[in-house]
Amino acid sequence: MNQRKRRELLWGGATASSQYEGAWNVGGKGLDTQDCRPYVPRTEVATTATRLLTPSTIARAKADALTDSGNYPFRRGSRGYEHLEEDIALLKELGLDIYRFSISWARLFPNGDEAEPNPEGLAYYDRVFAAVKAAGMKTFLTLTHYAMPLHLVEAYGGWTDRTLIDLYVRYARVVFERWGDQIDYYLPFNEINAGYFSPWNGVGLPKPEDGPYDQSLVFTSLHHQFVASARVIQMQREVAPAAQSGCMVAYFCYYPFTCSPEDNLKCTLDENVNQWYAVDVLARGYHPEYMDRFWAEHGVPVDVLDEDRVLFAQNTCDFVSFSYYTSSVVTTQEGEQTAGNLVVTTRNPYLKSSEWGWQIDPVGLRDALNRTWDRCRKPVMVCECGFGARDLVEEDGSIHDAYRIAYLRDHFEQIEEAVADGVDCLGFILWGVIDIVSAGSCEMGKRYGCVYVDADDEGNGTYARSKKDSFAWYHDFIEDYHRRF
Ligand code: BG6
Repeated sequence: MNQRKRRELLWGGATASSQYEGAWNVGGKGLDTQDCRPYVPRTEVATTATRLLTPSTIARAKADALTDSGNYPFRRGSRGYEHLEEDIALLKELGLDIYRFSISWARLFPNGDEAEPNPEGLAYYDRVFAAVKAAGMKTFLTLTHYAMPLHLVEAYGGWTDRTLIDLYVRYARVVFERWGDQIDYYLPFNEINAGYFSPWNGVGLPKPEDGPYDQSLVFTSLHHQFVASARVIQMQREVAPAAQSGCMVAYFCYYPFTCSPEDNLKCTLDENVNQWYAVDVLARGYHPEYMDRFWAEHGVPVDVLDEDRVLFAQNTCDFVSFSYYTSSVVTTQEGEQTAGNLVVTTRNPYLKSSEWGWQIDPVGLRDALNRTWDRCRKPVMVCECGFGARDLVEEDGSIHDAYRIAYLRDHFEQIEEAVADGVDCLGFILWGVIDIVSAGSCEMGKRYGCVYVDADDEGNGTYARSKKDSFAWYHDFIEDYHRRF
């Protein structure tokens, strides 16, 4: 029998600069889009719309930045900027094979359109790359994770302007020329489909004060990010050919609510627009026809140039990746909605939910891996997954997060099943391996880490690090996996 040899999976952990670093005004960093998101207490949040940034909330955030006032959790993150070496030492002790982190665009280019990078930003990331290398971990870099210099939003309209592509490639070139030989895997954009489901985080588009987003701006921006991704891959293959390029979507794993043909069709079409659109462009190299129909039916004009199509075809990525937290249910009928942060879905009666309404579905991960592998036939990385929960610190300082261990164990079993199905899985990256600020709700209290950070939603606390029970469990799992392999 001619079977492909199974690859040894990489087990990792991830953070993102805007949620982790803090130090928003240190070392010459410019104000970025995440620095402008204020904390909104959950009790006051009726819908995700409450958290959307509009021109007036941005103006307030800028005024508060001048006086360093207000509660803006991303300005603090987990104070990773100050705890860098200590944190990397903890990840080494945890036994990670690979660490995923992102560079803050505004730390290297405070406004985004300078000709030369900020030397203090370069010096900081020199330390980051050196520490990761010294710890013996592989490097998985996200060039942009939900944050861009605010100036690019104000001066150019964010990703609506094609100029952003050149500015972005300039930024990426600096990264690859300086650290390219130290980058094993990278993503041009975190969850590129965020442009569609969360335009501020994804493409730097504020919501109009009264009324919804203009969908042609949303999709034009997204298209520009696709072009930027392909241009970065093209450039990286000249400058740093050993790095492996990926694309990433937030994977919602759609199920039809009923077996009615209408629910089933809606499931297929929604999944196309939300997930496969990005993957088809970036991993398979073509602009899919179902988007032409979608745009025509929704009155969304987007300019896809002939030269863009050639670029996509010639610069597909090496691997495909996704974040997976939950599955989603779609229906053409009325259905009870879950709570949620950036995205809400119809409640699935077969699943339990986290406190934040995220439905827990390990089997869906096996499904997601199979669907992605079948569609692309490229190695697949689970580049984000984890359980956001409130942790209790006991009097002796211990943290018994059995719920997180159970979540991980159940999901790891399903990864093994998917590998047995024949999926070429590259690895698993635990999201928020050190507690960080929630991207959806700006809370510190929604924690994913094996490493606890002593801080609350208002920024009170020492920011000291301590190990939860899941730290020992994940450590032993990784050690045992490699021994068994
Ligand atoms: C992913 C993002 O969508 O979900 C992360 O890439 C984010 O940045 C993660 O933190 C979990 O979401 P949340 O809202 O719980 O932080």
